[in-house]
Amino acid sequence: MKISIVGSGYVGVTTGVGFAELGNDVTFIDVDENKIKAINSAKPPIFEKGLEELMNKNRDKYKATNNYEGILDTDITFICVGTPSKDDGSIDLSFVESAAREIGKMLKRKDGFHTVVVKSTVVPGTTEEVVKPLIEKESGKRAFEDFGLAMNPEFLREGSAVDDFFNPDRIVIGVKDDKTREVLEMLYSPFNCPKLVTDIKTAEMIKYASNAFLATKISFANEIGNICKKLGIDAYEVFKGVGLDHRINPAFFRAGIGFGGSCFPKDVKALIAKARDVGEEPKLLKAVMDVNEGQPMRLIELLKKHIPNLRGKKVGVLGLAFKPDTDDIRESRAIPIVEELLKEQAEILAYDPKAMDNFKQLFPQIRYAETPNEVLNADAVLIVTEWKEFEQLDYKGKIVIDGRRVEKAREAAIYEGVCW
Ligand code: UGA
Repeated sequence: MKISIVGSGYVGVTTGVGFAELGNDVTFIDVDENKIKAINSAKPPIFEKGLEELMNKNRDKYKATNNYEGILDTDITFICVGTPSKDDGSIDLSFVESAAREIGKMLKRKDGFHTVVVKSTVVPGTTEEVVKPLIEKESGKRAFEDFGLAMNPEFLREGSAVDDFFNPDRIVIGVKDDKTREVLEMLYSPFNCPKLVTDIKTAEMIKYASNAFLATKISFANEIGNICKKLGIDAYEVFKGVGLDHRINPAFFRAGIGFGGSCFPKDVKALIAKARDVGEEPKLLKAVMDVNEGQPMRLIELLKKHIPNLRGKKVGVLGLAFKPDTDDIRESRAIPIVEELLKEQAEILAYDPKAMDNFKQLFPQIRYAETPNEVLNADAVLIVTEWKEFEQLDYKGKIVIDGRRVEKAREAAIYEGVCW
């Protein structure tokens, strides 16, 4: 099939290159010239494991352009643009709206059935109440008759997006008309996983409910972990026992300093705002965010238990990315931690294998180390991201406060875990 992808973030690029690998022709459309240049020279515009190899292998099956005319010679267009938060936590749909308008303008000029698929995470109702009218207005055509419209959420984790694309737990296809359903079933026919066909709003909600549940699992683990810490119990041992129940499952119980990234915080907040919009007060979701916001400060509290006055003290920070295997620092727990250390007038020395350049743009005033070993020479070390290489360091004789459970760090002279 001929596919166009609007938006070349990690979801757009991984999805597009994945479809290319499956034998489709792909056109990426993005406003960012740097991304276009990178894609056209087979370089991933974002760091994602396995993506560069896949881009090289399928070099002749994709191209990138800033011109929406790229849509004209394709059969399906995926909207993969970002849906950030507004200041009040609700979803900012401006990128989705402008994509819908531009797609509509092209559909006006295009003959034959074209299918538009929303892959961006959008609050329930968006595809039918925002995207559909905009495309209809610009194209003068009717959805579900002259063009197809679907919502097909992504479940790609940053850092393992390529693997998640090829080995999904499920594929959710939110549709209204048979023709669109058939197009998407054909496109996804190479996949063997369960495929759930729902109406459009349900597909939108499945994505939010999935992310909100995973975020809830983490905050639950953290709340139990905070109680464990006071009682001298290791939360990791507890969740080993809990996770063995097949109704519960062991994943996403890693207690610590909480979740960051471009998805969980934004999506839980957007769902809270949407719930309030319709007159529902989401008590549990609010608590999930409250617990999450409190976790990073626990790391600092534990540090101050051992060094009460941080002024002028050298504090090492190991890890700045919101999780390992990415250079992404959006909503990273490192941000509130570094802000607090700065308030306490500590001298900060930070290290991350991939995320230092991004972090420097936010915090040019702190010092960055060339190697993780340099960081270990500080008066105390905070572990903020569980990069694999931090399992190889020599922590003997150090003061280490661990927010992510790096086993090797337990050999430190003084070792504290947030929830263990
Ligand atoms: C998340 C979901 O896992 C994907 O399924 C979803 O498609 C994606 O959001 C999205 O909406 O696009 P991602 O944000 O890339 O993916 O990363 P995760 O691996 O889920 O981790 C999120 C955060 O939770 C990280 O800060 C991580 O350190 C934290 N976490 C995760 C924990 O604190 N404990 C855990 O047990 C697991």
